[in-house]
Amino acid sequence: MPSATDELARYLELTPASKAKWQTATEYLPGGDSRNSIFWDPYPIFLTEASGNRTVDADGNERTDFINTMTTMILGHAFPPVMEAVTEQLSRGVAYNAPNEHQVRLARLLCERIPSFDLVRFTNSGTEATLNTIRAARAFTGRSKFAKVEGGYHGTHDAVSVSVRVDLSKAGDPDRPQAVAASDGLAEGVLDQVVIIPFNEVSASQRILDENKDELAAVIVEPVMGSVGMLPATTEYLSMLREFTEANGIVLIFDEVISFRVAPGGSQQYYGVTPDMTSLGKIIGGGFAVGAFGGRKDIMDLYDPTKGPRVSHAGTFNANPVTMLAGAVTMEHLDDGVYRSLAENTEKLRQGIRQVCDELEVPVQVTGLGSLFGIHFNGSEIHNYRDLAATDRDLRAHVFLGLLNEGIMIAPNLVGALSTCLEDKDIAAFLDAFRCVLERRP
Ligand SMILES: Cc1ncc(COP(=O)(O)O)c(C=O)c1O
Repeated sequence: MPSATDELARYLELTPASKAKWQTATEYLPGGDSRNSIFWDPYPIFLTEASGNRTVDADGNERTDFINTMTTMILGHAFPPVMEAVTEQLSRGVAYNAPNEHQVRLARLLCERIPSFDLVRFTNSGTEATLNTIRAARAFTGRSKFAKVEGGYHGTHDAVSVSVRVDLSKAGDPDRPQAVAASDGLAEGVLDQVVIIPFNEVSASQRILDENKDELAAVIVEPVMGSVGMLPATTEYLSMLREFTEANGIVLIFDEVISFRVAPGGSQQYYGVTPDMTSLGKIIGGGFAVGAFGGRKDIMDLYDPTKGPRVSHAGTFNANPVTMLAGAVTMEHLDDGVYRSLAENTEKLRQGIRQVCDELEVPVQVTGLGSLFGIHFNGSEIHNYRDLAATDRDLRAHVFLGLLNEGIMIAPNLVGALSTCLEDKDIAAFLDAFRCVLERRP
């Protein structure tokens, strides 16, 4: 029987150049990189190339990409129409001190598709997008507190760096979660501004919201929780949030940075629940740094310089022509048929994973919606963050390294997102690799 360290030994054998590059990197960058979210033990691989569904690392190992830059590359890497358009744009300049037409093209596409979007503004990250949805809600309502879901990740600004990865010994009762700092260095008083609600728990959340309703500017929620392993909300939960916020003059924010993948108009279209404000990122920039926030005209008007503005918003690289063009070309390639086929392929993958686990008698929950999926070695169903505590983390780490060794890339917490470049044969290869790695489990 192989031991737990066999996958690690194989990983070390396959990736000496990545190891050397990472060691050099640690001399200049804390932890050798600028994104803590993509670090894994013992060190991450360095990629030198990515195109379509294939990535190549510094040792020349090829892998099929089932995470696609944390869900971003929905059309695969280096999608030729985006590359051609961007190459042409580069010769006309990269960033201007004036508006550009590509921004209007992308804004129109988004406003036409997304039920909640009367108006939109662009940023360079999803972090700035959620920051602005919350700030806008505060400005609009004149209130300061907001509610977020336990376990929800909305980027790295202070307000939302609360109750993300939670030490359950400090997190209080499941029906009444405490706000817990997700980082050192938060400003004093940040925790007092955040009310934590449990995901998918309708009556517990409603009770907490009701107790705080006069102080709440906003409720922010991800319709499919990326940080909880691609866990979809129930329609009942989102409907409750919509009715409650509407009845109490609270701004409902959907963070669709990831869940915008679910349908042409995002999860809000899929669920038929329209928030007041929405934050976006990832796929809408065609692979370039991006974020966007938008929503009701009366809220977005707070940003209008011809009317004030009441909310400040700037950013040297906001809506630069390269990102906007890449985003517009990407969105134009995402029609109903593309979403349908991505969802069908991902469902085949989810079913296949369940079947392999069933045959090998490995308890598993497979989550996800549309082109998003998550694998949890967990004997009982997952409804919210606390249910993840039962996941077999050793097996998760084994499978992650094992899949890398077998030529498959997903995220260390075993979530993934398909691109249009993944075909039936790639799904079959994933399932073969998954079976092999599980058969080698200690
Ligand atoms: C739901 C959600 N919101 C916000 C963010 C932050 O986006 P960015 O990394 O572009 O700042 C992320 C990033 O993963 C996310 O998943």
